[in-house]
Amino acid sequence: MIDFDVQKIRKQFPTLNQLVHGKPLVYLDNAATTQKPMAVIDAITNYYLHDNSNVHRGVHELSERSTKKYEGARGTIAKFIGASSPREIIFVRNATEGVNLVAQSYCRTNLVPGDEVLITAMEHHCNIVPWQMLAEQIGIRVVVAPINDRGELMMDEFKLLINDRTKFVSVTHMSNALGTINPIKDIIEMAHKAGACTLIDAAQSAYHTPINVQSLDCDFLVMSGHKLYGPTGIGVLFGKSNVLEKMPPYQGGGDMILSVTFDKTIYNDIPYRFEAGTPHIAGGIGLGSAVEWIESVGLTNIAAYEHSLLEYATQSLLSVPGLTMVGTAENKASILSFTLDGIHPHDIGTLLDDQGVAIRTGHHCAQPVMERFNIPATARASIACYNTTDDIDRLKDAVVKTMEVFS
Ligand code: ALA
Repeated sequence: MIDFDVQKIRKQFPTLNQLVHGKPLVYLDNAATTQKPMAVIDAITNYYLHDNSNVHRGVHELSERSTKKYEGARGTIAKFIGASSPREIIFVRNATEGVNLVAQSYCRTNLVPGDEVLITAMEHHCNIVPWQMLAEQIGIRVVVAPINDRGELMMDEFKLLINDRTKFVSVTHMSNALGTINPIKDIIEMAHKAGACTLIDAAQSAYHTPINVQSLDCDFLVMSGHKLYGPTGIGVLFGKSNVLEKMPPYQGGGDMILSVTFDKTIYNDIPYRFEAGTPHIAGGIGLGSAVEWIESVGLTNIAAYEHSLLEYATQSLLSVPGLTMVGTAENKASILSFTLDGIHPHDIGTLLDDQGVAIRTGHHCAQPVMERFNIPATARASIACYNTTDDIDRLKDAVVKTMEVFS
């Protein structure tokens, strides 16, 4: 194992320190949501204790403080992903809302019937359904690039699917169901060569691996705060400023305008044009502090630690007879999706929970992935930076016990 003081990190996460069904909690449902460090809990509490006020509107002290913290968080997030300016950071509810915003604003305006949006067979529903809705609305086609038996994108097929009708390529950086990490830099380059615009769904990857939107050159990227050790209900849409500037608003209301008369409304500048209504101020501030917390640990350190833990966990689980790993890509992170012979994943989840081990079971909002592997569901353990080899040992013991109960 690499030098990483995981015990020091664990102490910062109060939720981890509890008994579940009389046993110390092993939390391995991080792909669904991560636990929150005290720094994030404190930032939100302090905001409500001392600064609570609306942003961008008041001249009074509290409003100025709220605005400074909220806009400060936007700046922190911009730096975290290498955006060229905080103007390129739009606060949304989650990655899902980010994709919907792009579909309904950029794509609904710029695409015409017959144009194609290229996605992959490993997408989360959030990167499938908004495109199907757009297809119903304006007659575009949704084209799906296949994956192989290891859960990797078939790049040769992907290349063949890009043509002069391809106007938008929307791809996950990391599969939430399989753990596969896609070669997004190559994908973005290929898409741009064909004249297509690109969106990267980084909801699952952003807390495992460093991202730089300028070196990737993606046009859009979405992330969810609650997976980044931040609060729920807040996420980020990054968009290149020259692209955002030409996009119409997604929703109308307060704060997204410069002036309103019954004859004509003039919209606000980016990013505010896309943030109608009072935003999730505490969420934005909490997410800013979560990003600062990640940076204090170092995402490169986190990635290296988690990678070694994933290898340990993979070897450990594969030694259990009757266990099949779903998603064995060469380049993967954090996710251990598996099935056990003769046992429905929901029963696995329930029996693991009895032993204090929290995992997720089901289709993980990626039903087409389950269909691809011809299974109804998987049991999914997912690693975050506070997990330990002890957690993995407890997971393995619980899986073995589950097999014994059913044998
Ligand atoms: N998309 C989240 C997951 O993978 C909720 O569990």
